[in-house]
Parts: sequence; structure tokens; C-alpha cells
Amino acid sequence: MMRESMRSPAVVLREFGVPSVVVQPGEVDVREPAAEEVLLEVEYAPVNPADINVLEGKYGALPTPPCVPGVEGVARVVLSRSDLIKEGQRVLLPAGFGSWRRWGTCLASSLVPLDPDVPAEQAAMLRINPATADCMLREFVSLSPGDFIVQNASNSGVGRSVIQIARAMGVMTINVVRRPELISELSDIGADQVILEGEKLSSRILELADGRPLKLGLNAVGGESALGIAGALADSGTMITYGAMSRQPLRVPNGLLIFKNITLRGFWVSRWYREAEARKISEMFERLMSMAATGALHTPIAGRYTLNEIVPALEHAQTDRRSGKVLLCPNHSPKIVPTK
Ligand SMILES: NC(=O)c1ccc[n+]([C@@H]2O[C@H](COP(=O)([O-])OP(=O)(O)OC[C@H]3O[C@@H](n4cnc5c(N)ncnc54)[C@H](OP(=O)(O)O)[C@@H]3O)[C@@H](O)[C@H]2O)c1
Repeated sequence: MMRESMRSPAVVLREFGVPSVVVQPGEVDVREPAAEEVLLEVEYAPVNPADINVLEGKYGALPTPPCVPGVEGVARVVLSRSDLIKEGQRVLLPAGFGSWRRWGTCLASSLVPLDPDVPAEQAAMLRINPATADCMLREFVSLSPGDFIVQNASNSGVGRSVIQIARAMGVMTINVVRRPELISELSDIGADQVILEGEKLSSRILELADGRPLKLGLNAVGGESALGIAGALADSGTMITYGAMSRQPLRVPNGLLIFKNITLRGFWVSRWYREAEARKISEMFERLMSMAATGALHTPIAGRYTLNEIVPALEHAQTDRRSGKVLLCPNHSPKIVPTK
């Protein structure tokens, strides 16, 4: 049973600004769960680019500081006042929970119960990046086995998920990266072709496609890289922009729209969760969990940090050329969490 006025260790965002300056380890109140609510202990929560953008105050939806950041994570139910979810069940956290904390309370109906075969660390990273990859591959263009798609930032969390989900669909991927050491790494997880950013990107992509039309391009970089992807698309192809890692705007020549009739779309998974039918969302989680349970969907981890280590965790998460995600481990003590 819960003690009255329980407090939880948490990362607290005081105001928007430079990420490592505006957050600090602290404590927040934890509400006693009411009827239909549960008390949760967070096990793992990643630091995603969206979290960095939130801390900077530059995102599509912003909380009001002081608050606890963290857009996703995995937790155990430690006290349940709902028939929907039992104590001990592992769950994915809902948007708005603020996952960079140890304990918190929320409605049982907002949680996604986790298949016990999915490793907890992988589960913590399932709700945003693999979901984004799955939606972009299924919701915009009708893809059949043997079709080719092209993407940039292909070693990112989303990019790796695109490679792994496309492979499960029989769809072939051409993957643009900015570091040569990633060519064999991504080939090992199922990338069909991997090439480096740089000059004449469209014509190098078209050479690899070898006459097969590219109906879909996925862009998380913007600037020159996006232009390279758009220029390689087939007539009436679609480019989806879902990120802007280079912070450079899209510059697409008029002719690509007029003569090649390409479509430019955007995607934001937060909007998708708000607008999609519940049945569609649960089917997606079933697909992602069954892949994650077998290891067919896997995101590497670059470092693990406790809540007290939030500043080095944020610095690591903002480092270029990382070898995976940075994970916060709110219920671990510093001694048992190996950092980088
Ligand atoms: N719209 C949505 O719903 C949605 C959902 C999920 C993610 N996203 C966005 O998707 C993007 C990737 O997210 P993630 O979590 O998958 O990323 P991540 O795992 O943190 O990886 C970041 C990626 O960005 C690349 N990168 C960083 N700076 C770059 C630059 N200046 N030019 C080109 N590439 C650069 C990195 O390449 P190196 O490894 O070479 O440094 C790496 O591939 C982010 O912009 C994120 O906000 C959007």
C-alpha cells in the first residue's frame, strides 16, 4: 500500500532552453491512485530527439514547466485500482506521462500491456520510432513485396525500424547514411543497399534502384539530403518528411512537382495516435511486439544512465555519430548502470 504523500525521484524541467542547463534531478509528488488508476514504477525511458526539442521549447506540443519530461518508456504496475491491469504487469507509458521519473500514477485505460517476451529495454523504445516506421511504410503508398523505397538518416532509431519492418513486408530498402562504417552494420540488419550522403545523391540512388520505380522516400534530414531523395523518386512518388536533423529547410525544385507530380507529405506520430482508430493502434502494437519479441525489431543502446546522471545522458544523446539510443534507468542505482 502506498504511503501518504509519496515523492518520486524525477528529472525536472524548470524552463525551456539549453537542455543540459534547464533540467536537474529532483523530486515530484506522486498521487495516490484513484479508482481506475494505477501506480507505476518506470524501468526504462529513452532520450529521443523529440525530448531534446521539447527541452529547447521547439516542438509541436509543449508541456508547461516545471514538469517532468520524457515522451515514452516502459514501467511495471506496482498498485492497481483497476480491473483492466493487474499488479506486476509491464506496460508502455502513454504520451504526457513524463517518463523521466521513478514513480507516477495514471489511468489504467491509457496503458498498453506488454507481451512478456519483449525485452524491457526494447519495449521502452517501441511507441515512437518503430510506430513511426510502421505507419510510414503502410499508410501512404501501397507497397508490395519486391518494391523499393529510399530513406536518409538510415541508422537512426526510425531508420533501423524502417529497414527491419520493410524486410518483414518483403520491401527492399535503399539507405542513405553519412558514415562509411554504417554500411556493413545496416547490411547486417537487412538493409538491401546502403550509400553515403554527398554529391549526385539522386543519380547514385537511381543506379542502385536499377530501373525499379521508387514510390516512397522517407526524409528525416532536410536540406540537400531531402533534395537527393526527392530527385530519385519515380513519377507520382511520395516523399514523407518526419524529421529535420540537419535543421535545414526543404528546397524542392518546382519541376519535381510540375513534371514528375511528386507528392510531399509530413508525418507526426503524436497526431496519428490522436486520430487513428483504437483497433488500428492495437494491431500495430501486436505487429511491433511480435517482431521485438523475436529480435527481428531491435534498437541498439549507446548508454544507460540513472536519473541523477541526466546531464551526461543529455550530452551523450546530443552527440553525433552515436551507436544507438541513450536510455534512462529510473529504478537503478548508479553502481549497476553501465554508462558508455
Ligand atoms: N515525426 C514523427 O512522428 C517522428 C517520430 C520519431 C522520430 N522523429 C524524428 O526522426 C528523426 C530521427 O529520430 P530517431 O530517434 O530515430 O534518431 P536517433 O536514433 O537519435 O538518430 C539520429 C539520426 O540523425 C542523424 N543526424 C544527426 N544530425 C544530422 C545532420 N546534421 N545531418 C544528417 N543526419 C543527422 C544521425 O546520424 P549520425 O549517427 O551519423 O550522427 C542519426 O542517424 C528525428 O528528427 C526525430 O525527431 C519524428
